[in-house]
Amino acid sequence: KVVAVIMVGGPTKGTRFRPLSFNTPKPLFPLAGQPMVHHPISACKRIPNLAQIFLIGFYEEREFALYVSSISNELKVPVRYLKEDKPHGSAGGLYYFRDMIMEDSPSHIFLLNCDVCCNFPLPDMLEAHRRYSGMGTMLVIKVSAESANQFGELIADPITKELLHYTEKPETFVSDLINCGVYIFTPEIFTAIEGVSTHREDTANLRHVSSFEAFHSLTRTLSKDFVRLDQDILSPLAGKKQLYTYETMDFWEQIKTPGISLKCSALYLAQFRLTSPHLLAGGDGTKSATVIGDVYIHPSAKVHPTAKIGPNVSISANVRVGAGVRLIGCIVLDDVEIQENAVIINSIVGWKSSLGKWARVQADGDYNAKLGITILGEAVTVEDEIVVINSIVLPNKTLNVSVQEEIIL
Ligand code: GDD
Repeated sequence: KVVAVIMVGGPTKGTRFRPLSFNTPKPLFPLAGQPMVHHPISACKRIPNLAQIFLIGFYEEREFALYVSSISNELKVPVRYLKEDKPHGSAGGLYYFRDMIMEDSPSHIFLLNCDVCCNFPLPDMLEAHRRYSGMGTMLVIKVSAESANQFGELIADPITKELLHYTEKPETFVSDLINCGVYIFTPEIFTAIEGVSTHREDTANLRHVSSFEAFHSLTRTLSKDFVRLDQDILSPLAGKKQLYTYETMDFWEQIKTPGISLKCSALYLAQFRLTSPHLLAGGDGTKSATVIGDVYIHPSAKVHPTAKIGPNVSISANVRVGAGVRLIGCIVLDDVEIQENAVIINSIVGWKSSLGKWARVQADGDYNAKLGITILGEAVTVEDEIVVINSIVLPNKTLNVSVQEEIIL
């Protein structure tokens, strides 16, 4: 048997995702019309002999209750949310729930970060992992040398694929091969994490601490149940014939900002073309609006037949789209109203917002720039004929003048 664990973090972790993470936990933010965490979960369906899926985080249980019960029914695999009382780190969280994870005596444990976007080649990783016969195999990818320092950089043996060296977000360049945050482990991983904790306890007892501040910073970083997978496990185990790498040649992104989430939504829509074309609009002829390229429209949305939508548009539940509306490269969240002839380009429109007639909400679409996409927070009103360009608007604002390159607080 095999189990999968998805690390979802908690409310203090998604701060760069503001203003979209004020009311909705980042892992539930919709990409291509499905919660972010839904994409790794549905990838787990392809794992043979999957017994259970666990989501581990420090969000309140009730935030995930609805999603977890509906996805369990849909997949016919139990999906459980396990809440940590406090953050234990990416490895500490796993260890904290070891008894539950080992309940079915799995031979392998998949561990996935929830904030990565890729095609999760899990069965291929399992096969490679069996061949390498180490304790763990991690998904890796080559990125540009300039962007590598935002990730764990690593060196792998070109022939055996063994992980030889690992440094988390190094200041000086190590390698353009980076950690994708997708792993498969044997249950020995728990022994490795335990080793870090016991070692910490010993060092903490031995150390002479001279000041109050130093004591507190030390106990925080050395707290025996806070264990980071990257620094505390991967780095020390590199080059010991225990960890191996599996390189993906397909797409991969880390979803830390709203800008990147717009890009990832497009990537997942393109993926649906191959894996679940029934989710895309236009295929079944039920929506009469003009649809261009990959578009997701929730069944409860009401779209006027004269609207023109796409490519890369995702429209959530109960959205109303008026006559002559044009939507390109955007995510429109639940209960939004878009009146006649409004235009949205390269933007995210928050829950319950409304756009008046002939309003324009747009951006140049540079996903990496701070104001490269326009974001309207929850319940923002853009009045008739108002133009909003490359801006971020915080929740509950009403715009009756046009703005450009502004953050409206
Ligand atoms: N449950 C729980 N508890 N989850 C946590 C905790 C915790 O205490 N801390 C982090 N996580 C989750 C995050 O939500 C995320 O899904 C994952 O664990 C990793 O988060 P971080 O430890 O903050 O690392 P990161 O996202 O900056 O970088 C990691 O992922 C990159 C790939 O996306 C590193 O492993 C990098 O090396 C890697 O390139």
